[in-house]
Amino acid sequence: MAKSPASFTCTECGAAHRKWAGRCDACGAWNSIVEETPLGSGPPARRTGAKGRTIALTALSDDAPPPPRTCSGLGEFDRVLGGGLVPGSAILVGGDPGIGKSTLLLQAAARLAGAGLDCLYISGEEASAQIRMRAQRLGLDGAAVRLGAETSLRDILTTFEAERPDLVVIDSIQTIWADHVDSAPGSVAQMRAAAHELVGFAKRRGTAVILVGHVTKEGQIAGPRVVEHMVDCVLYFEGERGHQFRILRSVKNRFGPADEIGVFEMTGSGLAEVTNPSALFLSERDAPAPGSVVFAGIEGTRPVLTEIQALVAPSPLGMPRRTVVGLDSGRLSTILAVLEARCAIPFAGLDVFLNVAGGMRVNEPAADLAVAAALLSAREDVAVPPDTVVFGEISLSGALRPVVQMENRLKEAEKLGFSQAIAPARGGAGATSALTVREMEDLTGFVGEVFGAG
Ligand SMILES: Nc1ncnc2c1ncn2[C@@H]1O[C@H](COP(=O)(O)OP(=O)(O)OP(=O)(O)O)[C@@H](O)[C@H]1O
Ligand SMILES: [Mg+2]
Ligand SMILES: [Zn+2]
Repeated sequence: MAKSPASFTCTECGAAHRKWAGRCDACGAWNSIVEETPLGSGPPARRTGAKGRTIALTALSDDAPPPPRTCSGLGEFDRVLGGGLVPGSAILVGGDPGIGKSTLLLQAAARLAGAGLDCLYISGEEASAQIRMRAQRLGLDGAAVRLGAETSLRDILTTFEAERPDLVVIDSIQTIWADHVDSAPGSVAQMRAAAHELVGFAKRRGTAVILVGHVTKEGQIAGPRVVEHMVDCVLYFEGERGHQFRILRSVKNRFGPADEIGVFEMTGSGLAEVTNPSALFLSERDAPAPGSVVFAGIEGTRPVLTEIQALVAPSPLGMPRRTVVGLDSGRLSTILAVLEARCAIPFAGLDVFLNVAGGMRVNEPAADLAVAAALLSAREDVAVPPDTVVFGEISLSGALRPVVQMENRLKEAEKLGFSQAIAPARGGAGATSALTVREMEDLTGFVGEVFGAG
């Protein structure tokens, strides 16, 4: 006998639970588990004896060329999609409230309409008049995008079937309400049902569907992660409050590389593309100072230089602080442990603050050496030469591992006027950039050579 279906769901990660708990053990979120009425009652019927329909099978090779992608002309947006919009694709764009999702998608829809697509923009959050006001502010009031303000999934789908547009934007998926699902708007069940129907429509009719999803910390409405697996492409729009930079990051893409980023700047007249993010991130840089190190990173297919800043100060607390913005805090702990164990440089009794300038987030292990350099530079109060970029992965033994796309990193640094790089030894591969590369075997050698300590 099958167990009764789970009736509690985490609104953050979508994990099913058989009873309520204060904390989801799948993702660790607090207060995110809500009760849900299961869709059908009882286990799915096994239609024993009933014959299925034979499905049509096709060959892997198909003579018909794939339908062309459409470029919006908003280069940062097109790149994140993997080179333009694929017909019939389902795209989820998640982001914090107020970060600029509606602005971005209205601008993208206007551009795509200009490129010849029939675009519909359906808002469940704002009245058409409000969207028109935004369009006016963005200078897009002449664009051929048609607006709708609606939350009923049934009405939206009926409209789509009648109109057969090329692109629809749904802002936001959390406001869409399916009347066949007995659960509140914004719940996991509603969101799944709406996403399922809309993605189905995209595949059936070849219409590209963009779903906007709010990221929430409160757990009152379901986070977009619960529909991530249903769509072809998952993009997150990120940024720090108080910074004008916005980063569109692909975390999943069935039609292109994941981890690609597009960089924008929020201005009074909308989002402006930032085609040279390195220059932008480094433009915030003050005079060379202890604790500041430039990391030559790779974001998606493109090199991006960012500044890593550290502050190390004696701690009044028994348990010193470890505060990290823009990097993984686990990675910081590992690097501190390696510095202590392999180089005998203790950080006990010291508060450590680590930050990536400009609201950027760095996920690459190649940032290890730059982080270590920033920490040491702050601790020893010695500035790393300002014309230097640093990158390399640190292993637990203290050895430095080579990183991917070394030449691209060096070329970008050269382009931005840097003259030397501190990097792992690359085992004889020839250099093509004019940068002086100081190759390091391990962390101890690095500490000795750069800081004269160890
Ligand atoms: N008049 C204005 N001048 C300049 N910037 C503005 C103006 N109005 C709004 N903005 C910017 O646009 C941002 C809001 O953009 P938008 O409405 O696209 O965000 P959103 O992510 O869709 O928000 P929501 O969660 O409300 O749907 C604001 O945070 C602000 O920075
Ligand atoms: Mg919005
Ligand atoms: Zn969870």
